Amino acid sequence: MSDSRLKEFLPFHRPYLGDEEIAEVVDTLKSGWLTMGPKTVRFEEKFAQVAGVRHAVAVSSCTAALHIAMVAGELGEGDEVITSPYTFPSTISSILQAGARPVLVDTLEDSPNINPALVARSCNDATRVILPIHIAGVPCDMAAISELAENCGAWVLQDAAHALGTEYRGAPVGGLGRVSAYSLYAGKNITTGEGGVLATDDEEMADAARMIRLHGISRDAWKRYSAEGSWYYEVSRQGFKYNMTDINAAIGLHQLDRLQGFQERRVELARLYTELLEGLPGIITPAPCTEGVSAWHLYIMRLKPVELRCSRNDFIDMLKADNIGTSVHFIPAHYHPWFQEKLGLSRDSFKNASNLFETSISLPFFPTMTDDDVAAVVNSVKRIAGEQRA
Ligand SMILES: Cc1ncc(COP(=O)(O)O)c(C=O)c1O
Repeated sequence: MSDSRLKEFLPFHRPYLGDEEIAEVVDTLKSGWLTMGPKTVRFEEKFAQVAGVRHAVAVSSCTAALHIAMVAGELGEGDEVITSPYTFPSTISSILQAGARPVLVDTLEDSPNINPALVARSCNDATRVILPIHIAGVPCDMAAISELAENCGAWVLQDAAHALGTEYRGAPVGGLGRVSAYSLYAGKNITTGEGGVLATDDEEMADAARMIRLHGISRDAWKRYSAEGSWYYEVSRQGFKYNMTDINAAIGLHQLDRLQGFQERRVELARLYTELLEGLPGIITPAPCTEGVSAWHLYIMRLKPVELRCSRNDFIDMLKADNIGTSVHFIPAHYHPWFQEKLGLSRDSFKNASNLFETSISLPFFPTMTDDDVAAVVNSVKRIAGEQRA
């Protein structure tokens, strides 16, 4: 057993829920209104303010928000969506689900965000959407992406799963592009357990999204069981079962109140990690965010393989033996058999994304971590990097 082993397991992520969230959920359960209702509406209003958009449509996941945006935008066969392989699988699955074709282009060399120069090369008459992903909360080059979209008559759908709190040129990213899709999954900067939000300034998109999330029936479908509602409804367009529930929204209302405090702590934790890890042989700390503000969703440390004898996977196992939980963001699309088969990809398809994947480790990172927790993780990283020096 190593000297740096922690007595108790330090997870990669731990959500924080306080008494307010618990009381609000209890209130919802006692209210008799469990599914989408008044608390979801309140949550949407509050979220729109925070994300800097006119409309927030609360749904069951970010994946649902991505799918809804593409259905509302009437994408289908023959339409292309340009995105990056360096993401969670559902960014790409949602394109396939909408019946369109994902066109994948590599990331930048030393950033997991999409390379706009490669997007430019893939734009053509069939391009309907450009779908950048703000990995770890670091904004993509939105000026370049917006210009490319405009030039080829496409629109921008942001995968903002990591980007609640991300700013670009002085404003929240939510208002950039036509639509942003946020995630409220348990591991995100704030959570509703499961959930997502489609955020937009485009009223037509918002109206369509409200219908699509609830079977394609008229706008206030959820009100049909309330005193002001009516039993009658009509299905006016294709729809799905993608609504949020008031139980989830009850949690989200108070998580939104905590967001700023969470963000401040994330910034502090990231600064501390970088201060303690910077310059360590074999280790690369995250690049500073040059154009905007990162939401610091993740702290992704990278290894320099030439300076270490062990692999990234071995490094993770050694951290685990020290009782430290980690994760890897992300296993890129071209490593997954389904996407290989569907899109004709192989592990060699995207050099930069492969390099980033093979060298990345997401360290424990959540607002209730203490400075001592960070010091303990760094202590283990130092010991392992020292012992494994090439
Ligand atoms: C980049 C990215 N996009 C999309 C998603 C999907 O989010 P959800 O689980 O809310 O559907 C995730 C979830 O981890 C993600 O990390």
